[in-house]
Amino acid sequence: MKPSLPSLCFLFHLLIFHAAADHDGLSSSSIIFTTLGRSHYGFDIYTLPTLNDQPKLNDEIRITDGHSVNFNGHFPSSSSSSFLLSLLSNQTDIQIDPPPLQLIYVTERNGVSNIYYDAVYYDSPRNTRKRSAIESITDRIQVPLLGTQLSDNRVSMKDKPTVTGEYLVYVSTHEDTGEARTSWAAIYSTHLESGLTQRLTPYGVADFSPAVSPSGIWTAVASYGKKGWDGEVEELSTDIYVFLTRDGTQRVKVVEHGGWPCWIDDSTIYFHRRGDDKWWSIYRAILPIEGPVSTESVVIERVTPPGLHAFTPATSPGNKKFISVATRRPSSEFRQIELFDLVTSEFRELTRLISPRTHHFNPFISPDSSRVGYHKCGGEGKGRKISTQLFLENVRSPIPEISLFRVDGSFPSFSPAGDRIAYVGLPGVYVVNRDGSNVRQVYERTAFPTVWDPVREGIIYTSTGPSFASESTEVDVISINVDNVDQKGYKKLTTNGQNNAFPSPSPDGKWIVFRSGRSGHKNLYVMDAVDGESGGIHRLTEGPWTDTMCNWSPDGDWIAFASDRDNPGSGSFEMYMIHPNGTGLRKIIQSGLGGRTNHPSFSPDGKSIVFTSDYAGISAEPISNPHHYQPYGEIFTIKLDGSDLKRLTHSSYEDGTPAWTSTYIKPVDVGWPKKDGPYCSFDDCHWLKSVLAAQKVSPKIECGV
Ligand SMILES: *[C@@H]1O[C@H](CO)[C@@H](O)[C@H](O)[C@H]1NC(C)=O
Ligand SMILES: *[C@@H]1O[C@H](CO)[C@@H](O)[C@H](O)[C@H]1NC(C)=O
Repeated sequence: MKPSLPSLCFLFHLLIFHAAADHDGLSSSSIIFTTLGRSHYGFDIYTLPTLNDQPKLNDEIRITDGHSVNFNGHFPSSSSSSFLLSLLSNQTDIQIDPPPLQLIYVTERNGVSNIYYDAVYYDSPRNTRKRSAIESITDRIQVPLLGTQLSDNRVSMKDKPTVTGEYLVYVSTHEDTGEARTSWAAIYSTHLESGLTQRLTPYGVADFSPAVSPSGIWTAVASYGKKGWDGEVEELSTDIYVFLTRDGTQRVKVVEHGGWPCWIDDSTIYFHRRGDDKWWSIYRAILPIEGPVSTESVVIERVTPPGLHAFTPATSPGNKKFISVATRRPSSEFRQIELFDLVTSEFRELTRLISPRTHHFNPFISPDSSRVGYHKCGGEGKGRKISTQLFLENVRSPIPEISLFRVDGSFPSFSPAGDRIAYVGLPGVYVVNRDGSNVRQVYERTAFPTVWDPVREGIIYTSTGPSFASESTEVDVISINVDNVDQKGYKKLTTNGQNNAFPSPSPDGKWIVFRSGRSGHKNLYVMDAVDGESGGIHRLTEGPWTDTMCNWSPDGDWIAFASDRDNPGSGSFEMYMIHPNGTGLRKIIQSGLGGRTNHPSFSPDGKSIVFTSDYAGISAEPISNPHHYQPYGEIFTIKLDGSDLKRLTHSSYEDGTPAWTSTYIKPVDVGWPKKDGPYCSFDDCHWLKSVLAAQKVSPKIECGV
């Protein structure tokens, strides 16, 4: 008997929706921030059979729900499958037919990252005349495997799950390391029946990309060990460590330089690394059966040849015939899933034959080797249009009084009444109602950031010209009357073009603080808000360094800003405060040696500051995600005296340019009103370029090398 699905799904979804309670307390507020591209992801997990030589569209089955952002899947072993089913039956008192497919995966829904188990029932595509197997999925059971996190407002990122025996092994970022610029990513195992969780990663260390050996005894991870993150955002210089899955003991380094391990048997690990020839390739590490295991006793061989990038390998226990990999061939801009024959050393392309112009990520193979799974941007039809494009995406906040939203636009800011949002597009400045309606371009040229005048309605300030530019670049501060843009409703407030940027008005609307490169260094200045420089200007900070990204406090007493004055030119930024009269300078926070704390914005009560920082290091191997310039960017708040640091976001994406408003917006997602939203259009990692192109050698790569 199949379970009565509606009631079952209702049961599990109750857990989720319950958390989204209203909150209208007096001190409530909202924070919005930028995660570029995120609203385009629409990831779902798909599967293809490995046996067909030429997979066709009909062979591909979408196995996740088509609504949430679903990724990083894992097919449980047959023993884990029966355990999961029996757990489900016991908890629901329903006899459940074994489903043809079971899946463990990461899902983001209702602002929460969680690990789900799906039992998927589908009609075999071979037996239907339907055009696409996608339509033939009939039913599914979805169960969050880690439901209890919702109880105490704990927020974290979850990643790379595996079920082994009665345990779920996964990455979580819920424990604060207490130390700047160290990753919170660590491996945990949770006993699924009791919910008891133990940490497997030693304190003081971060681990990524766990893989459990076929026997379940060992777990391999990518880790920096004690040496820590050095700011790298392309290939992490991790090593591979192995430890006992039972309790994390007997931890030993087995490979110098490598990531994304996976096992074929308990002494054979496959992993990726970018080799000396700059190609990402798959390598094999053979651990000694007897004697001590160490980097010296492990034998390492390169598996995939140069000439294309092959990475994020996947294996199936006992299968010595083939592995699966993601590739970037010089002939394509797209990331595809292929099989690699370990006997003949030939590649066999899978996904390119079905969707040549879609990125496919992070393959995984079923225990019987008959299927490969992966995630990609899904949706209807060939154009891969996604159905859930969002303007404001709710992100679960660890502080109930503050609701949190992602925006797919840079430098978002709220109007004083909280009813409108300005943001920066590529290019131009836009204004949109809070519900996503009435989006309008109010300025055409490249500009950054946006901030509203607190007094004069409809006036925003920005600076126009290229960002990330040198002191002499032509950038000027302008004000825009967003309700009168047809009448050339903008006004230049600075005129010398000497990199005048990051304007922020005083709360009485009389003054603007901004940074300018006019002295040869970027320092802070204050000028008249209405007439600009011609109405009066004075210099606020002075020195051979960069002060920038300034923000005026709501009580008028402070200006917060980012500065590299501790180590000018190093790229390292700390956060400072100064009185508008030039006294009282003090440092609020430094993100470790060489760290970055940027884009401060005061809370409505003036007691805290929200900012973006690399304070929590990096949370996943960047190659397992779409492109992000600064994947370490997370949103934090801190009190003005530097105490009470709180991490608000947990992701492997770049979260940046936050703004804080006194309006409390209820945590619901807001979609764009226009039906025909943009298509899945994010970029693959920019740095994953063809080595051949870089070397100017003419590419001649055949399929199957
Ligand atoms: C389910 O219930 C049966 C019978 O009580 C028990 O033997 C089995 O261990 C339970 N399974 C799980 C996973 O709890
Ligand atoms: C500077 O401004 C701060 C607050 O805005 C004030 O407390 C302080 O007394 C002022 N100092 C001088 C020298 O004017």
